[in-house]
Amino acid sequence: MKLGIMPCLAMAAVAAAATVSTVAFGQVPSGPSTDAEILALMKTHCVMCHAAEPTHEAFAKAPAGVLLETIAQVVGNAAKIMTQVVVNRAMPLGNQTGMTDRDRDRIAAWVEGRNR
Ligand code: HEC
Repeated sequence: MKLGIMPCLAMAAVAAAATVSTVAFGQVPSGPSTDAEILALMKTHCVMCHAAEPTHEAFAKAPAGVLLETIAQVVGNAAKIMTQVVVNRAMPLGNQTGMTDRDRDRIAAWVEGRNR
């Protein structure tokens, strides 16, 4: 019996470790930021204001005319996004969405990757 239980526990530990590392990988992706990741960040932190029809109650139209709903729009505003999000940290406005330094790093990496 003892011999039967030990490998079983070892397997469970390996399985648990694998699950944990998968989750961690999902939260801290390595390598270049993808377009999908950038669009997800825009959706979470920017699009409630920067959309053709903002859902944020304070805005009836996109502030400064900046739309961030598609990759083409994000690419077109890439330099301004670097300034506002990474350099000045003025966006997201008042950091209402709680954007982390890591999110800002991912955006910077994506913009810099495109400029290579
Ligand atoms: C709560 C609403 C709100 C959110 C969320 C928000 N913004 Fe803004 N954004 C504004 C407003 C208001 C202005 C206009 C500010 C001004 O003209 O001083 C602006 C202006 C801008 C501009 C134009 C600045 C310029 O050069 O004229 C850019 C680029 C921008 N935002 C990017 C972003 C990005 C990227 C995010 C998400 C990370 C974001 N914003 C999130 C409200 C918001």
